[in-house]
Amino acid sequence: MNEKLNEILSLALEEIKEATTMLKLNEIRAFYTGKKSPLAEIMKTLASASIEEKKTIGAASNKVKQEIEKAINERRLILEEKEINDKLASEAIDVTLPGYDLKAGAMHPLNKVIEELEDIFIGMGYSVAEGPEVEIDVFNFEMLNVPKGHPARDMQDSFYIDENVLLRTQTSPVQVRTLLEASGKPVKIICPGKVYRRDDDDATHSHQFMQLEGLVVDRNITMSDLKGTLSMLMEKMFGKGRQIRFKPSYFPFTEPSVEVDVSCFKCGGKGCPMCKHTGWIEVLGAGMVHPNVLKGAGYDPNIWQGFAFGIGIERITMLRHNIDDIRNFYINDARFLKQFEGER
Ligand code: PHE
Repeated sequence: MNEKLNEILSLALEEIKEATTMLKLNEIRAFYTGKKSPLAEIMKTLASASIEEKKTIGAASNKVKQEIEKAINERRLILEEKEINDKLASEAIDVTLPGYDLKAGAMHPLNKVIEELEDIFIGMGYSVAEGPEVEIDVFNFEMLNVPKGHPARDMQDSFYIDENVLLRTQTSPVQVRTLLEASGKPVKIICPGKVYRRDDDDATHSHQFMQLEGLVVDRNITMSDLKGTLSMLMEKMFGKGRQIRFKPSYFPFTEPSVEVDVSCFKCGGKGCPMCKHTGWIEVLGAGMVHPNVLKGAGYDPNIWQGFAFGIGIERITMLRHNIDDIRNFYINDARFLKQFEGER
């Protein structure tokens, strides 16, 4: 009988030693110490054995059982520790590994110029207004002194949604909207935004581009206010000492109207390819608000005066950065855009 017990013990110890998972170890425990284990079978046969046999075999099989349990417990500790170590190893984070390279974008050059212009004008007490890109004919043309059939419409042929609704051809309708809203109070706003014209698409033209409109309406506003404001603007945009000059021009909603030139910031006015050897670069259109526009919005032109100007954002940005093709702004070529990272 002792031989049998020894055999059970050595088999069990062998299996325990080889168990590599807790699952396996639990199976071994069930097999060697459970109700149907070989040890339990031996105990059952003791029923018919003599008292002496019961004592010795009972004690011996109990000892075997205890040894098996002890070995299982020891093995369990080893396996548990191994499991924890494996888990730690598989979940280890190497903090010295380089991180993923997150590519950060940069602000678009046109948006940068708009922000810069906004900063300059906010510094002069202006607020920033907005208007819709889908506009009614009344605001885009009629209340700007351009009735239906007016020849000036031809210069800004646009995309019509229907007879009375179109993609705005200029930011000037925001003048009308702002005046109507201010209903008789002074106004001092700029409005940057997209405009649309049915136009050729080439190096200097696009059917969609951006403008920044300015409008000041108050008492005692004269053309010298316009000139002072634009001189200041040009110095801030193109450097100290810039001169401006007004040339007579025509816009239906301003009278008088002017084209504004700035002295060339490349050659200082001596003449170079940048200014086509004239010393001057044309940058924007402006003028004194036409009495009809004031009247239409409920302002008495005998009491109120104003000036307005419209800046082409693309044009200013192209001059600033010596960009030769307007399409660069829209085709999203990363090589073009990357050059403006961190620039102002
Ligand atoms: N709206 C004019 C244009 O797009 C520009 C302009 C604005 C001129 C304000 C004068 C005053 O051509």
